[in-house]
Amino acid sequence: LSASTKREKAEPSFRPFTRKYLGSKRVLRDWIADSICARAGVPGSFVDGFFGTGAVSAAMASRGAARIIAVDTLRSNCVILRGFCARSSRIPRLMEELNALPGSGGYITESYAGTYFTEENCRRMDAVRERIAELRSLGAITVGEHDILLASFLLAADRVANTIGQYDAFLKHIGGAAMVDGRHLVDQRVQTPFVLRHLEPLGKAGVAGSDSIDVIEGDMLELAAGLPVEVAYYDPPYNGRQYCDNYHVLENFARWEKPPLFGATRKFDRTSLKSPFSRRSSVAQALSLLLERTRARHVFLSYSSEGILSADQILATLSLWGTPSASEMAYPVFGNGAGVSARRSVIEYLFHVEIEGAA
Ligand SMILES: C[S@@+](CC[C@H](N)C(=O)[O-])C[C@H]1O[C@@H](n2cnc3c(N)ncnc32)[C@H](O)[C@@H]1O
Repeated sequence: LSASTKREKAEPSFRPFTRKYLGSKRVLRDWIADSICARAGVPGSFVDGFFGTGAVSAAMASRGAARIIAVDTLRSNCVILRGFCARSSRIPRLMEELNALPGSGGYITESYAGTYFTEENCRRMDAVRERIAELRSLGAITVGEHDILLASFLLAADRVANTIGQYDAFLKHIGGAAMVDGRHLVDQRVQTPFVLRHLEPLGKAGVAGSDSIDVIEGDMLELAAGLPVEVAYYDPPYNGRQYCDNYHVLENFARWEKPPLFGATRKFDRTSLKSPFSRRSSVAQALSLLLERTRARHVFLSYSSEGILSADQILATLSLWGTPSASEMAYPVFGNGAGVSARRSVIEYLFHVEIEGAA
């Protein structure tokens, strides 16, 4: 076995939605999927309108939802979920070839070395990302193979990133000790080599029928009117932190347009990716518009007790469409970050309304 094959074999494969993602419903996905099925039955068609990691889409697939449409504005999320739905027998050889590439300088090294990643990992990433783009532009790999390789690339990059799981900041001290006086300064994984790993097929992760997930990159506000489904599940951002800010580095890798970057946190211009759900001034109107445009008999909405909108505001909005109800789940949150972690409990709401008069 070559050194790179040995390294891949020693590393477990990536599993869906095991990355740190703000607002991920990984832990709550069974509660959410069971609640949906209890109230609306197993849907023949289901839209996961703000799918993020795809945790809820996967849980609904495992319960037998026939047609699943997953929508998110971030290309990085779309590529990752599509990668987990694609198949190709050529992936082991392609990954071996990519993992064996010598590092090279380039856009990633110039942009992020010594901040979000070590210079060594940036050089590996530059070589691999360029080659994935080249293979696709030559037609040497299919769209599905491209999604698998790029999904693995994004998860591998996230694994060695010098962050606390989101990219609105990076940890200082990238070359220093991981812990000093009980404070978490650098994730030890930052120093481990960037390496592509296999994606564990969704089916193996206990998800049946997952090939039927139809992933759409776009704005749910614009798409809702064109997606008639039995059940719509919405998990919009609930606070003022824009996801395009939190995941700008992965988004930049996914898009690979090499834009100029600005400021200490090295962000590109994300004006077109800002969400009205993350703005206090526009969230109420955005929710009303989304409901107005939704073509589903059942609408489920996840929201946090720490969100911009209160539960009463949401119930008032939903009551324009039917008789709403809310389930609650106390959910422990760890104040993650460089420094001391404090544990607190927030309430995760799952609202439901059956739209009167819907077909
Ligand atoms: C709370 S997270 C969803 C988490 C997801 N349910 C999970 O389990 O991983 C909110 C998601 O909404 C996406 N988003 C924000 N505005 C959007 C919009 N207008 N249309 C579609 N997706 C949007 C963000 O990119 C983010 O992934």
